[in-house]
Amino acid sequence: MTRGRFITLEGGEGVGKSTQIRALAAALEARGVEVVATREPGGSAGAEAIRTLLMEGSDDRWDARSEALLFAAARADHVARLIRPALERGAWVLCDRFVDSSRAYQGGGGGITDADLLMLHGFGSEGLLPDRTFLLTVSAAEAARRLTERGGSDRMGNKPADYQARLAARFVEMAEAEPARWRIVDADVAASDVTAAILADLAEWLP
Ligand code: TMP
Repeated sequence: MTRGRFITLEGGEGVGKSTQIRALAAALEARGVEVVATREPGGSAGAEAIRTLLMEGSDDRWDARSEALLFAAARADHVARLIRPALERGAWVLCDRFVDSSRAYQGGGGGITDADLLMLHGFGSEGLLPDRTFLLTVSAAEAARRLTERGGSDRMGNKPADYQARLAARFVEMAEAEPARWRIVDADVAASDVTAAILADLAEWLP
């Protein structure tokens, strides 16, 4: 039995990650691939409980270090209970956000160093990295439009515009630093075109 592929989608709020996860899962399943579609923070019972701690309450509920530890703890549980077992039985795991979100949000925006975040990930999740990470990018205007359409935001999404801009820049910086793992996908176009671009990139791995 060959190990499954671990694919993650990253980007700011409102770039269409969850829509793409659904479309990709359907396309892969149609090709006979077992798919586990999941998201962070969350994806396992323990991680979903931590998600509630992270997403609810006031903006200053957690200081930056506690917040980074909670994300890492949620990820450790998710990896141990759901992601690794799925990959080992040959399933493809599609995950909406992973460690790179911690590197962008807690790192770029929250001031924790990348080395510290990778150290937490090394301990918590034994350093598991995706086989491929797609960074979905949209223009600032399009992201704002989609967020308004979606209505409201939560504790994590409730951050000023300059924070969102720093975040977008940090994602691009990470993608450019590790081109073998990352692909940058223009998500300003129709959702079906985004799905097609991602599937084309994954074609070499498909059965
Ligand atoms: P989402 O479910 O809308 O993607 O929201 C998750 C929020 O949590 C989003 O604002 C990004 C943030 N986040 C982090 O700050 N660090 C992380 O490691 C992850 C996975 C998410």
